Amino acid sequence: MMGRILGVIGDPIEHSLSPKLHNWVLQQLELNEDYEYRPFRVSSTALAAFLQEVREKELHGLNVTIPHKESIIPLLDEIDPMADRLGAVNTIVRIDNKLKGYNTDGLGFLRAACTNKISLKNARVVMLGAGGSAKAVAFALTGAGIAQLSLYNRSPDRAIELRAQLLSKTNFSAIDVHRLSDRECLCADLSQATLLINTTPIGMFPHADKSPLPLPEALHEGLTVYDLVYNPSETSLMREAHHRGARVFNGLDMLIYQGLESLRLWLGENDLSKIERKISLPELREVLYEVLGVAV
Ligand SMILES: NC(=O)c1ccc[n+]([C@@H]2O[C@H](COP(=O)([O-])OP(=O)(O)OC[C@H]3O[C@@H](n4cnc5c(N)ncnc54)[C@H](OP(=O)(O)O)[C@@H]3O)[C@@H](O)[C@H]2O)c1
Repeated sequence: MMGRILGVIGDPIEHSLSPKLHNWVLQQLELNEDYEYRPFRVSSTALAAFLQEVREKELHGLNVTIPHKESIIPLLDEIDPMADRLGAVNTIVRIDNKLKGYNTDGLGFLRAACTNKISLKNARVVMLGAGGSAKAVAFALTGAGIAQLSLYNRSPDRAIELRAQLLSKTNFSAIDVHRLSDRECLCADLSQATLLINTTPIGMFPHADKSPLPLPEALHEGLTVYDLVYNPSETSLMREAHHRGARVFNGLDMLIYQGLESLRLWLGENDLSKIERKISLPELREVLYEVLGVAV
């Protein structure tokens, strides 16, 4: 018996962890007879036709990944306000035959922070990078009671644009922007910072020896370091930070929680904790590390 279809669309899609994540969670929830989650490789030119097919078939919900997160928006019937603000959709829910787009990346970050007791209230945050994930995390942070957000990016224009969007779409204004190469500012900001977030891909497998931070000596024990990279499970940045007494976390929990938030939407569940209670987070991490071939 085949249940309702869920899935992820992207190009490429072979390396996505989402099928393993969702099918494992559906099994834990005893919903694996009702739903099956599949990867769909869909090229940019085939996107509109695929969505038309989705409308005609029993496809209940989708995750959306690179390169479709932005280009899919005009093809949907409704966009949730958060996805609209970010200009990017990572989750589609079919509601009464209409397709509605959401973005769960920011919530995924907040849930991961909460689970790991990372304090955001009054936090002074230094963020490395200003791309898609930085945007989702930055919007989430502006509503979480932080005191300061310092954006560092290789190309200053992207960070300036992100600051402008945050200023125009939120009530949070304590935002400064710098070049990633501005060591003096970075050193000063890090000495005051309580949270350092890496949203660049630097340090990701197979370049695990690289760190996005040009000055590791500025890391200190008053810092929590959150690296969005999760392969390897301990990045070079995390290792340097741990060595200097900081608390460190990789991005796997954010990945898990953005996925659980998508599932919550597909199941029409109001409260994520009802899903969380039925799964073991350590076991799920282990399952995903096994797929990645990463030692923990
Ligand atoms: N844990 C999770 O759930 C999760 C979720 C989303 C993403 N991620 C990870 O986060 C990382 C970024 O993803 P994204 O979607 O935000 O990518 P993106 O939109 O392409 O942005 C990449 C950012 O990294 C910077 N960057 C890239 N290469 C660099 C280099 N060699 N030196 C300095 N800066 C560099 C870019 O700077 P410029 O603007 O100067 O190009 C940009 O700010 C990826 O590793 C992705 O796997 C994790």
